[in-house]
Amino acid sequence: MIHINENFLKLKASYLFSDIAKRVAAYQAENPDKTIIKLGIGDVTEPLPQACLEAFHKAIDEMGNRDTFRGYGPEQGYPFLREAIAQHDFQNRGADVSPDEIFVSDGSKCDSGNFQEIFADDIRIAIPDPVYPVYVDTNVMAGRTGQNIDERYQNLVYLEATKENNYSPALPTEPVDLIYLCYPNNPIGVTLNKEQLNAWVDYAKENKAIILYDAAYVSFIRDEATPHSIYEIEGARDVAVEFRSFSKTAGFTGTRCAFTVIPKELKAWDKAGNEHSIHALWNRRHSTKFNGVSYPIQRAAAAVYSPEGQLETKQLTDFYLENAKLIRDAMEKLGYSCIGGDNAPYIWIHTGTDSWEFFDKLLQKAGVVCTPGSGFGRCGEGYVRISAFNSRENVVTALERITESLS
Ligand code: MLT
Repeated sequence: MIHINENFLKLKASYLFSDIAKRVAAYQAENPDKTIIKLGIGDVTEPLPQACLEAFHKAIDEMGNRDTFRGYGPEQGYPFLREAIAQHDFQNRGADVSPDEIFVSDGSKCDSGNFQEIFADDIRIAIPDPVYPVYVDTNVMAGRTGQNIDERYQNLVYLEATKENNYSPALPTEPVDLIYLCYPNNPIGVTLNKEQLNAWVDYAKENKAIILYDAAYVSFIRDEATPHSIYEIEGARDVAVEFRSFSKTAGFTGTRCAFTVIPKELKAWDKAGNEHSIHALWNRRHSTKFNGVSYPIQRAAAAVYSPEGQLETKQLTDFYLENAKLIRDAMEKLGYSCIGGDNAPYIWIHTGTDSWEFFDKLLQKAGVVCTPGSGFGRCGEGYVRISAFNSRENVVTALERITESLS
């Protein structure tokens, strides 16, 4: 008889955003005349930048011509894209990353979810609370946790981000081997300064741990003193992997392109104490399970680094940040204390009430979808997240409706 991986039974019935989508669909079916505005999942609404679109079209034409047609590309990505990434995203900011340390992929969700596969089953893992649910759920699936008791999986070390610690989790008080960090943060929209990030790098060094650093929202940073990459911190090449994505930078959520940086120095150990290269292990995994991102999409992504692409992606992220400011101002005017929205596209709102109840209230009274904070972890209870990803018209209408229904 075939048996299932019983670790899957420890998970909540559905993934947070699928759960929200189901509830919204049920509400819409019961109220077909209501127009619902979605400020829940962080999904972009604005079209691809012109520079990306042109490069995309041109590459598609190349695929239709025998002389320029391409079949399988390198699993790690075409050199033209890896070189542009290394130069613009890292070397220009003084971070030492070379093109062959970059693995191009179809998404940071997949990369940050899959990366745990190359580590042992019994490592100790530190995960923030609240957190992007993928980091937790993929470790549950892999069997690294016990049951979920009171919204906490046994065997995980939770790094609490609360009002009391100014939403910046303290270092673990016990040794851990793998640490997930996400900055600018999803869901709470905050960033870390150099000193704070330095403390994490030092901790990882002292404990021979690895940091999985998710920087998917880096293009929303406007405070120049804020580190854009963990590799701006001395010593980070020895202890950190960084995930980046074109999804929110250039509107690629439907187009799919991202990348993971793994410095050659990064090591982990087998049970006998022998050192192994994480770059080599991930390369083995990546080339076995992944056949590369399509050529036209990589061309479209590389166009982000052209002068026009840089200008247009800045305009795009500026646009969403203006939405974020409108949302934060409106919610503060209603008396809610908020964080985020200035260097990130998410606003974290303290409602002081049950997160799902507030979600239902906003949906039923205003026809607006947010994300209940408790969906990101126990510390998210009493909060909701509002995303800045929508058209200006929809954001303005949503805020008018929220103001009217909550005043
Ligand atoms: C979110 O809403 O948290 C993001 O859209 C999730 C994602 O990028 O997968």
